Amino acid sequence: MHPTIEWKDGKVVMIDQRRLPLEETYVECADEEQVAAAIETMIIRGAPAIGVAAAYGVALGVARLSDRDDLEAEYDRIQRRLFRTRPTARNLFWALERMKAIFEEQKERPLAALKQRLLDEATAIDHEDEDICRRIGAHGAELIKDGDTVLTHCNAGGLATAGYGTAIGVIRSAWEAGRRIRVFADETRPFLQGARLTAWELERLGIPYKVITDNMAGWLMQKGEISLAVVGADRIARNGDTANKIGTYSVAVLGKENGIPFYVAAPLSTFDFSLEQGGLIPIEERPAAEVREINGRLIVPPAAAVRNPAFDVTPHRYITAIITEKGVVRPPFERTIAALR
Ligand code: MRU
Repeated sequence: MHPTIEWKDGKVVMIDQRRLPLEETYVECADEEQVAAAIETMIIRGAPAIGVAAAYGVALGVARLSDRDDLEAEYDRIQRRLFRTRPTARNLFWALERMKAIFEEQKERPLAALKQRLLDEATAIDHEDEDICRRIGAHGAELIKDGDTVLTHCNAGGLATAGYGTAIGVIRSAWEAGRRIRVFADETRPFLQGARLTAWELERLGIPYKVITDNMAGWLMQKGEISLAVVGADRIARNGDTANKIGTYSVAVLGKENGIPFYVAAPLSTFDFSLEQGGLIPIEERPAAEVREINGRLIVPPAAAVRNPAFDVTPHRYITAIITEKGVVRPPFERTIAALR
């Protein structure tokens, strides 16, 4: 399919997710500042894709240094810039920690060798992601039966990763295994990742889908039109509490009320083993314009105040299972997640 992000001729090229599905355009980043801005403005988004972008951002930043620069201070500056782009996705910090470990190990080597080693690491983070997602997909596909209708929220597909997707990876893997399934994609206000991006991906994959507005899911569950829900994650605490796109919590609660399994699909790089529970996960507040406007047009009274928390935390008691590249873990999550490490 489309490359979400790739390293090309010394630059990082990303599909512009703000413009999809109406325009398929690409943005080139030549330094860490452009990568950081692309993450902040959601040219690229989705936890694993943000991690890959940040890793390439480090490689780009270091590639521009010369022997006259104070290497440690410059590395610190590059890392700090990328660090403060988006606070919730664990994969961002995971990727930066992985890059930093390489820097510490290789910083005494000639600068050219260090640059190459950092680029190799970023490329490895990129390429490993697809393999990890395929493994998540294969484990998760076992949970989907022929004839099921699957609800998903936001976009946890190829666009949110290096190419295959986590929640959509599960859906896709079930479809590729021959199961005749259908998908409901929540539109996912305010940024419309479901209506714009998940629909675009499912269409290209040929998987039957319908877009619904976020407030329709409960009614469709009550009518027996949804068999299960599967979503991605931005950060998972040790007890299984999961931060994901705002509105995920509502889907999970409605799922429990209606006896519908609720699955989270995520790589191990999304788990934050330092956090005991989800209340400790930092939740990003995004610009008011995302709520106040649609396609640049004001939809509220000009003076209206709004809130825009970008994520919510689903308590683990609403989660049936978490699908990872190492297999499917079920409650009690404290024990089963600890065993994954
Ligand atoms: O604000 P976004 O679009 O970056 O939020 C994305 C999500 O919430 C995804 O579900 C999550 O990052 C998992 S992506 C595989």
